[in-house]
Amino acid sequence: MTRPDDRAPLLDMDPEAFRAAAHAVVDVMADYLESVEARPVFPTIEPGSLRPLFPPSAPEEPEPIDAILADYVRLIEPNATHWQHPGFLAYFASTASGPGILGEMLTAALGQNPMLWRTSPIGTELEEVVVDWLRQALGLPEAFDGLLTDTASTSTLIALAAAREAAGIDAAARGLAGRDDLGPGLRVYASAEAHSTVEKACMTLGLGRGSLVRIATNARFEMDPGALAEAIAADRAAGFRPIAVVATIGTTSSTSVDPVASIADLAVREGLWLHVDAAYAGVVAMLPERRAPFAGWERADSIVVNPHKWLFTPLDASLLLTRRMTELRAAFSLVPEYLRTLDRVTPVRDYNEYTPQLGRRFRALKLWVQLRWFGLDGLRRRIERHLELAEDLAGLIAADPDWDVLAPVPFSTICFRWRPAELAGRAETPEVAEFLDSANAAIMDAVNRGGEVFLSHTRLRERFTIRVAIGNLRTEARHVERAWALLRAAAADHAAAGRAVTA
Ligand SMILES: Cc1ncc(COP(=O)(O)O)c(C=O)c1O
Repeated sequence: MTRPDDRAPLLDMDPEAFRAAAHAVVDVMADYLESVEARPVFPTIEPGSLRPLFPPSAPEEPEPIDAILADYVRLIEPNATHWQHPGFLAYFASTASGPGILGEMLTAALGQNPMLWRTSPIGTELEEVVVDWLRQALGLPEAFDGLLTDTASTSTLIALAAAREAAGIDAAARGLAGRDDLGPGLRVYASAEAHSTVEKACMTLGLGRGSLVRIATNARFEMDPGALAEAIAADRAAGFRPIAVVATIGTTSSTSVDPVASIADLAVREGLWLHVDAAYAGVVAMLPERRAPFAGWERADSIVVNPHKWLFTPLDASLLLTRRMTELRAAFSLVPEYLRTLDRVTPVRDYNEYTPQLGRRFRALKLWVQLRWFGLDGLRRRIERHLELAEDLAGLIAADPDWDVLAPVPFSTICFRWRPAELAGRAETPEVAEFLDSANAAIMDAVNRGGEVFLSHTRLRERFTIRVAIGNLRTEARHVERAWALLRAAAADHAAAGRAVTA
């Protein structure tokens, strides 16, 4: 190196400048969390209105952190949908807890990539520790090992790729194209209510959307195991190769629970991989007295539970547990020379061998911080509180003659609609059905536009269905009560129209 260099060093932000800026950032973060409840849950802006607020190209010259932070407060925060808001009762909640945020900050500073043990010994081994802590907390047997991924979408994709290997397809080496040993194709089974991630996994894995057979559900939106057995038999008779069944504990629309124990019996009999999607509801298994809906899940080949949903972990964190790590590795292991660690001694786990991605985030750190700060007992009590809030709201709705609960409430999500008492017992003619659909959509929209709470909807048995999903760490009884009061007030605007329909 003979090149003279008398210029300023081209390095990162100086650590002292970083310290000062980080303190300022923490103030902004704390102010946000302190004030989030006073904001409308989502901004009243039109799509496309934000992009023009930003310069079309990145700045050539450096800008001071104060200016950047001021713009963050002015442009970013007010234009976010506030998932941290206690009135966020839409979809399934995803709260970033205080300790989880601190964990994310530490993660960013440490800059780990636990793709190999060598590239992050602590990232690798703390993941083993945290996965096992969570396994125990969920009451699952020691046979389950696993890993952390970004989302349930990835966890389910990995599980189905492993199922394909377990079925002896060897798609990792041979692919699927042009093979005459697979009959007309592979088959995966899930209920009509299963999440679209299962279908997307089939698309991504080259099985095609047609490989997913949707099994009918009963009146409680639970998979019918008899219909599953028939579908498998019919497919086998037609030459298809069934490889896996996905049972859901806590479906997305209604939070219904498939009969996992019966499905597990069938999976064993048929030699199918059983994957359990408990992305939302899985954390309820942390409460031993609430484990009834989980009967049989301990017999699954793989299970997904999302800490970034109802365990208050900042996005992203999905837990994939499996008793068949060998098959995961068969599906994804590929070790080129540049990733071979010359000093490798067993036992060493290189997590990239179990996933489609090479680079990985150190997700275990925020979970470790968070599990310690809340303690399992603190987490259980918060989940229990949400379950109680949901029970209370479901009770109020069921007791009101103008409202109907449209699905059982096994967890913390209530599906319901306004149906004025005058319509009780009347056949739901197309005219009445249309009126109820549009009235309920308008009621939900009116409540949402007020900005105090945010609700979402689904369709159950073709009916527009309002959902209140309780799972935000900051939600208290008063927020749920307020949502109910706002819904009833909005419904009052439709009462006259309701009487006209019945006339
Ligand atoms: C039951 C269920 N499975 C899977 C998912 C997908 O989760 P992710 O966004 O982590 O991929 C969801 C999302 O709400 C879900 O409700």
